[in-house]
Parts: sequence; C-alpha cells; structure tokens
Amino acid sequence: MRTAILASGRGSNLQALITTCQSGNLPIEIVAVGSDLPGAGALMLAEEAGIPARVFPISNYQHRQAQEEDILIWMQNNEVELLLLAGYMRVLSPYCMSQIHFPVLNIHPSLLPAFPGLHAQRQALDYGVKVSGCTVHFVDEGLDSGPIILQEAVPVLSEDTEESLSQRILAVEHRLYSDAVRLLALGKVERTGRRVHILQQEE
Ligand code: GRF
Repeated sequence: MRTAILASGRGSNLQALITTCQSGNLPIEIVAVGSDLPGAGALMLAEEAGIPARVFPISNYQHRQAQEEDILIWMQNNEVELLLLAGYMRVLSPYCMSQIHFPVLNIHPSLLPAFPGLHAQRQALDYGVKVSGCTVHFVDEGLDSGPIILQEAVPVLSEDTEESLSQRILAVEHRLYSDAVRLLALGKVERTGRRVHILQQEE
C-alpha cells in the first residue's frame, strides 16, 4: 500500500514505522512524508531514510482549506492509498476528510475515548487514573473520535511524571502502530460503522 505520513513533531512514531518497514515486517511502502512545521524532526528522519519530505506551512496559505488542498494534491500525485497521522497537530477538516477515499489512521497516547486532544498523558495524571495506554484508530471528522482498531493498556505509577508516563506509553505506541497498520495492509481489519473487527488467522 502506497502510504503517506503526516507528522508535526520529533517523529519517533514515523521512525518506528520506517524501521519496521525496512526490516520487512510491514507490507506498506512509505512514499511521502509531510509536515505543517518546517523544523519538524520527522522531516529530517524521512530524508535520512530517503523518503521524499514536503512541508505545508500554514503561514504560506491564506486559509486552512488552501493548505489542505495542497496536501490532497500531494497525496494524489503520490498515488497514496493509506494516510497515517503520526503526531500531526492539526485536525483534518470535514471538507478534507470528504475528499479522501482511502483509510486514514491516527495514534493517540490514551485509551480513547478517555483524554482526547492535547496533553493526553497530563490529563490522565490529573484525573488520577491507574491505567492509561494508547489507541490506533480510524480518523473521522471529530477529534480523536474515529473507530478504534487497537488499544493497549499501560499502568500509571504513583511516582509518574508527565515525562515518565509519556515515555512508557511511547514505547508501546511504536509497536502498536505498526501492528495496526500491518493488520490493515493484510486485509484483516473489517469495519462496520463504529465497530472494527480484527480477523483471526483462520478467518
Ligand atoms: C505521540 O505521543 C502520538 O501518540 C501523538 O503525538 C505524539 C507524537 O510523537 N499523536 P512522535 O512525534 O511520533 O515522537
């Protein structure tokens, strides 16, 4: 599957996906990486891996739809069949989503629907939950609200800081995102409305 990845930050999830692909354990081809932030570490990681990287700085555009139009054209030109958000800090607008006719996935550092949006790990600590985790889900028009593909729990320890909890969740994210994308690429993810069924080996 020809795959594009959008990322705004350091890109550790992007790197995990690249590494899993390179080791032959993820049957997708990452053909393009994009970012809304010129300095994003993700862009450098893509370049190091020989993947074409492109910036769509929001300040270059008169309005948000123009930036999204460029992203849509970029995906079309790259014949993209799968879009992965990996720390992309913008919500794709309903218009943009309506123009995308292939799966869009995201990873979020909480057990959704708990703690959507920014600073999910801090939200978990502030709430006082004993278990948090991460979620890979289809993107819909809401904020971290699409159908869930995979989730994994991570314990919250009494001595945790936002940093230590984030690190422990991140280690799981790096495996879980590849696991979910692999299942999708192998045709083992069936979606009916909000419900996602993972086909077992014998199914
Ligand atoms: C991750 O925690 C991801 O779940 C969230 O943004 C963070 C991105 O981190 N959506 P990185 O840039 O992949 O290191």
